[in-house]
Amino acid sequence: KQKIFKKYFKKKLRKKNRIKNMIKKGIILAGGMGTRMSPLTKAVNKQLLPLYDKPLIFYPLSVLMLAGIKKILIIVNKGQLNQFRKILPERNNLGLSIEYKEQPKPGGLPQAFLIGEKFIGKDSISLILGDNFFYGQSLTKILKKNINMKSGAKIFIHPVKNPHLYGVATLNNNKKVITLVEKPKKTKSNFAVTGLYFFDNKVIDLTKKLKPSKRGELEIIDLLNFYKRKNKLKAEFIGRGGSWLDTGNISDFYDASNFISAIENRQGLKIACLEEIALNNNWINNQQLRNAINFYGKCDYSKYLKSLIN
Ligand code: TTP
Repeated sequence: KQKIFKKYFKKKLRKKNRIKNMIKKGIILAGGMGTRMSPLTKAVNKQLLPLYDKPLIFYPLSVLMLAGIKKILIIVNKGQLNQFRKILPERNNLGLSIEYKEQPKPGGLPQAFLIGEKFIGKDSISLILGDNFFYGQSLTKILKKNINMKSGAKIFIHPVKNPHLYGVATLNNNKKVITLVEKPKKTKSNFAVTGLYFFDNKVIDLTKKLKPSKRGELEIIDLLNFYKRKNKLKAEFIGRGGSWLDTGNISDFYDASNFISAIENRQGLKIACLEEIALNNNWINNQQLRNAINFYGKCDYSKYLKSLIN
């Protein structure tokens, strides 16, 4: 009997620790100049442009939601808060706690941890870039598997044909990162570092130690290299069944848009329908779904939401 009790309590403790170590907060970095998308981005933030049938920001937000993250900080350019609030208000129908902060000017990705210091508090944190698109059958499984993190940092990597345009990683058999180089001329691997990262709470102090690079920005690669030098940087594959698409320039943006259109129109299922994910996570009920339908008004997106009731 004692043995059975011991086993039961050990299992309970493991579950408790798993929940304790879960990353519960996420930052979406949705500022930037969007220079490569100009003139489209002269007046409108890139993350608010339509990627097929939704604003681009819905897609990275959906990734955090699929990971089970409900506390979200969205960092936007100075003066653009109200634009974002119109589509993703703090009081939303998604069961999310959304906060906003402004980035005075684009000074590099790690600035997210300085701007978000108070939001992060003593917790671990995930960061996703506002222009990153992920999709694939195993995505939720991969996210859920990696969301428990006691210490260190984790990057998500994906094979690409043109690795010299990205941060490139090589790994050992334990998925520990061995080398990490930004836009290398000669590449040792075709694994690009995507715009999704998990960090322990040390990330705030480490960011404070960073010095701006030649281009005058804090560099995420420098931050990740701090972790790598301490043997604390691991990587997870978004396997070839998954997709990670670039939306940084106009041609890639429209390719991603066509990809979404092809899949949605074939399957009749939406990619990154935020309310659908919230409903599946039991974060909202039918009433909130009805509120969302009122919020969007008469449109195809609302029609899709109607189909989800019951
Ligand atoms: P980038 O692709 O580096 O920059 P960008 O989006 O401004 O585009 P461009 O290179 O054409 O000028 O940024 C990647 C993502 O990170 C994008 O979603 C914007 C966001 N970002 C910020 O919010 N703040 C920053 O300081 C930086 C560098 C990027």
